[in-house]
Amino acid sequence: MEIIKNFVDNIHNDDYKSDYEFPVIQGESMVFPGGRKKQSLNGEWNFSVDQYDNCLRAKWFLEQETNDEGRNIPLDYGFDEWDTIKVPGVWNLARPEYFYYEGPAVYSRRFSLEEESKGRVFLQFGAVSYEARIFLNGVFLGIHKGGSTPFTIEITSRLKAENRLIVVADNTRRKEQIPSENTDWFLYGGIYRDVSLLFVPDVYIKNMKAGLINRETGTIEVTALIDCEKKLTDSELTFSIPELNIEVTFPVNEDGTCTMYVNAGKLSLWSPESPKRYQVLLTLRKKGVVKDEVTDLIGFRTVETKDRKILLNGRQIFLRGACLHEETEEHGKAVTKDEIREAFQRAKKMNCNFLRLAHYPHTEWVSEIADEEGILLWEEIPVYWWIDFSNPQALDDARNQLTELISRDFNRASVIIWSVGNENPDTEARYEFMKDLASTARRMDPTRLISAACLVDTVNLRIADRLERHLDVIGLNEYYGWYDPDYEKLTEILNGSHPEKPVIISEFGADGYQPDENSRKYVRGSEKEQEEIYKKQVELFGKTEYIQGTTPWILYDYRTPKRLGAYQKGYNIKGLVTADRKREKPAFAVMKNYYEEIKNNEGSDRETVGE
Ligand code: GCU
Repeated sequence: MEIIKNFVDNIHNDDYKSDYEFPVIQGESMVFPGGRKKQSLNGEWNFSVDQYDNCLRAKWFLEQETNDEGRNIPLDYGFDEWDTIKVPGVWNLARPEYFYYEGPAVYSRRFSLEEESKGRVFLQFGAVSYEARIFLNGVFLGIHKGGSTPFTIEITSRLKAENRLIVVADNTRRKEQIPSENTDWFLYGGIYRDVSLLFVPDVYIKNMKAGLINRETGTIEVTALIDCEKKLTDSELTFSIPELNIEVTFPVNEDGTCTMYVNAGKLSLWSPESPKRYQVLLTLRKKGVVKDEVTDLIGFRTVETKDRKILLNGRQIFLRGACLHEETEEHGKAVTKDEIREAFQRAKKMNCNFLRLAHYPHTEWVSEIADEEGILLWEEIPVYWWIDFSNPQALDDARNQLTELISRDFNRASVIIWSVGNENPDTEARYEFMKDLASTARRMDPTRLISAACLVDTVNLRIADRLERHLDVIGLNEYYGWYDPDYEKLTEILNGSHPEKPVIISEFGADGYQPDENSRKYVRGSEKEQEEIYKKQVELFGKTEYIQGTTPWILYDYRTPKRLGAYQKGYNIKGLVTADRKREKPAFAVMKNYYEEIKNNEGSDRETVGE
C-alpha cells in the first residue's frame, strides 16, 4: 500500500501523473453484457471539480488520515461531505458555475454487493468524458481514454464488504487526443452514461458477434470468445434462435475462440420498413454442464455496394438522412431514451430512414432503439478536422475508440456504416492514419460499409480525396450557397466528378435564425436564406445519379463554443429544428418533400431470404 511520505512530496513532484498512465483500459477488456446479472451504480455520487489535480498529486484516493508516526494529516478533501451530482450526467448542467468547467473532477461513492458473487465481477462504464482514472479501495485500477465509448475493468480480487469507488474524470482538450483541441461542438465533462457491476462465471463468454453473411442460404456467422485463464477443454457453444427452432452446437478451441456457421434458412430480413429482430442465445457447456449463457435481440440483414449503388438486402436504397449530435438542452450529452425516440420521430416526420451520428459514438441506446424502430445509422469516431496524425499515441487512441465502438455495436442491424473521420486536411500523415483506421474497421467487421466525411477538392472542383480508394462509400461535405455562394462550383463538382463508388452528401446546409417572429426577410443566415439554399441543393442532388444518400447538417441547433455571432450566441444554428426541439424551420419542409418524392419512387424493399 502506497503511503504519502510527506506533504512536500505532493507539491514538488511535477511528474505526479506518470503513476497513473498505466494500465490503459482498452477494447480487448470489454465484456459482452447481454442477459447478464448487473448491479447499477447510477445515482447521486459525491463530486468536486479538482482544477489542480490534487486527488492525483496528494493521493486523496488513499484516504490516509494519519502519517507513519500516527499524527493526523490535514485533509484537503472530504469525499462523503462533498455535494452530490447525478450519474449518469454532465457536470456542465449540474450547477451554473460548472457550465464552462474543463479539467479534472473527482467522483466518489461507496457500494456493497447486493448479492454475494460466486464468480467474477467487472465494473462497466458506458462512457466518461474524456479521460477516466479508476480507483477502488485506494488502488489505481487503470485509465481509459476516449470520451464516447464503453470500458470494463475486473474488480473481483479488489472487492470488500464495503467499497470506495473514486473516478477522476478529466475533459481537458489536448493536441494528441481524438478529437484534438478544436471542434464545433460542446465538449461536456463527466460520467454521462450508465455505470454498473457485471457478474460473470469464472469461465465466461467474453464476446459474441453474429451477422448474416449469405442472404440466399440465410447463413449467419457467429464468432465468440471465451475468457478462461487456462486452456479450454471439453467445451462447446450452442447458438440458438428459439423462434426459428434453430439450435447448433460447435466445439470451442483450446484458446477460447469459436466460429460457427448457422444456416437459418427462411428468416425475415431486418429493414427500416420491417425491423424484425430475433432473440438469440449463446450457451457455453463444459462436459455437458452449462457454464455461462448470454442473449441478444438481433436483426439480420445484408448491406453492400454494387457499382455506385447501396444495397440493403440486395435492393438499392437511397439513404434519406440527417446529421445528429448527441445533445439535448436539458441533459447535454446524457440524452435519455425518450429524447432519442423523440429525435427518431422527428426524423421520420421528415421522411428519413437514416441518421448520421456525428461526430463520435453516441450511446448504445441509439442503435438499440434504431434496431427497434427501423432507422439506419452511420456511426463515426471523432477523428475530426486537425489531428496529431504523426503521433502514435493519437493513432492508438483512434484505433481503440473504433475497436470499442465496433465491439459494442457489431450486433446492431441498424448500423450500416462505420466512419473513420470527418473533414481531415489531406497530408501524408493523415492518409496513412486514416488508411490504417479503414483497414482496422474492415478487419474487425467485413459485414458493413466503411466511409468518412471527406472534403471537396476546391482547387480542381472535384470529388478527389485519395482516401476514397479505401472506402466503400464516399462521404462528401459541401456548403455551397453558405460558405461559398457560387452554386456553379457545386454543379461543376457534381458533373465533373466520376466517382466509382456511391456518394453520400454527408453535410450541406446553412445557418437559420429568425430575427423576429414575423420576419421572412432574405438576410445572411436567416431561415428564409436557409430555405432557399436547401431548395437549390436538393435540386442539384436530384440530377446526380451517383448520390445515394444525403444527411443535411443538422437536425437540431446545438451548443458550441465556436459560434459566438450576434444570432448564434454559443449555438450552431444550422439546425432544421430549434435546439428546444419545438419549432421546425422552413428548410425542414424542403427536406421532407424531397425525401417524400424519393420514398414514393422506391418500391417496397421487404424481401424474404430464399426467394
Ligand atoms: C463542418 C463540420 C461540422 C460543423 C459544420 C458547420 O462540416 O463537419 O462539425 O459544425 O461544418 O460549419 O457548421
